[in-house]
Amino acid sequence: MSRKEEEEDDDIVCLDESFFIDDNYQITDFTFGSHVLQLYCLQSASTDFDLTGQLVWPGAVLLNDYLTKNANMLQGCSVIELGSGVGITGVLCSRFCREVVMTDHNEEVLKILNKNIKLQESLDDTICCAELKAEKLEWGNSAQLNHILQQRSEGFDLVLGADIYILLDLSPNALIGTNVKSTDLHLKLNSN
Ligand SMILES: C[S@@+](CC[C@H](N)C(=O)[O-])C[C@H]1O[C@@H](n2cnc3c(N)ncnc32)[C@H](O)[C@@H]1O
Repeated sequence: MSRKEEEEDDDIVCLDESFFIDDNYQITDFTFGSHVLQLYCLQSASTDFDLTGQLVWPGAVLLNDYLTKNANMLQGCSVIELGSGVGITGVLCSRFCREVVMTDHNEEVLKILNKNIKLQESLDDTICCAELKAEKLEWGNSAQLNHILQQRSEGFDLVLGADIYILLDLSPNALIGTNVKSTDLHLKLNSN
């Protein structure tokens, strides 16, 4: 290697992807009616579009307000949540539901989602009843969805998602996968 090449080599700074990821999560309280949820999240949006799931979005706050006021529709249900982000909707649902599976496609978001599941398990909170799980699910990925459904032959009672329609022009079929037999995934929509 020539001296010039050596000098140029010295100038190269190697940055792995962690250099661009803000994971300075803070435990934050969110109140919905009588329910106070504690979750790790960022306080402001990441500059990276694909890391939108690191913080709580207004749609989730609205959905959680609605669910708290209509908790009877969740009672005893099994729920799958799409694009869960930090998991604020799934965590609220676990107060009422029988089973909650939170999903996301982003590995970094899945890390914070799992961290929040552990946090819920560590809290001395007797209100919480459902088992919370995180699974990787890219919308429309039938293989990933079938993997989730394999363990739940009866499907889910309810599919929830907050602030996910803004990203693409998606229909529920595109979200859950067109190769999935309609009987595999039971949607129970409540008009209350
Ligand atoms: C705007 S955030 C909403 C997060 C959370 N539901 C909330 O309201 O706070 C959108 C979420 O959808 C996830 N997402 C985006 N595109 C996705 C895809 N193609 N498949 C699965 N998840 C996706 C992101 O990782 C992110 O967590």
